[in-house]
Amino acid sequence: MKLLIFAGALRADPCNKKFAREAMRHAAAAGHQCTFADLKDYPMPPYDGDIEAATGVPETAQKLGELIRNADALILSTPEYNGSIPGVLKNVIDWLSREKSVSLTGKHLLLLAASPGALGGVRSLWHTRQPLEVLGVHVFPGMMGLQNAYNAFDDQMRLKDEKTAQQLQKLLGQFLAHADLNVSRKAA
Ligand SMILES: Cc1cc2nc3c(=O)[nH]c(=O)nc-3n(C[C@H](O)[C@H](O)[C@H](O)COP(=O)(O)O)c2cc1C
Repeated sequence: MKLLIFAGALRADPCNKKFAREAMRHAAAAGHQCTFADLKDYPMPPYDGDIEAATGVPETAQKLGELIRNADALILSTPEYNGSIPGVLKNVIDWLSREKSVSLTGKHLLLLAASPGALGGVRSLWHTRQPLEVLGVHVFPGMMGLQNAYNAFDDQMRLKDEKTAQQLQKLLGQFLAHADLNVSRKAA
């Protein structure tokens, strides 16, 4: 399958990009074609109906939408901000929802979160599901929050804890099998 992997974070060295890339490494090793999209390369203004009326959906949102449209499935790792979805990610989802043919609709998506805290961003996982599901994204029922994420990776950006790495690999395997089945059914 063609997979698009991204993080709901902008910083150059965020734990969520590391977590998303770790998932990408496993998916690539399983033979999937993986592309990483950095939201920093797709800057968008805060959603404003006046901007949309004057100039339409920003080119950056259209370009990201094109990447999503070309992918069979998506993997997203999001931070948790104040117990919820980060504003930057919600803004991206809002702009993507304004594309003529909404790129997210019908896509299979695995949702991950990473946080330096003890809860692993679990509240963000539940809040991020909601707008995605409203848009018709098939968010995989299994999700994973990575706690203590600043200490979770070695200098090769690999998960240090074997059990945590196995947990990610197991969840990813389940998601990829599920998405693959549905993508194949749709193509048949
Ligand atoms: C505005 C703001 C709110 C935050 N709120 C939470 C929170 O509710 N729960 C949490 O676990 N971490 C919270 N954090 C800490 C983030 O988890 C931390 O900054 C993390 O590194 C963000 O992910 P990143 O490394 O991928 O950028 C917050 C950070 C910011 C800047």
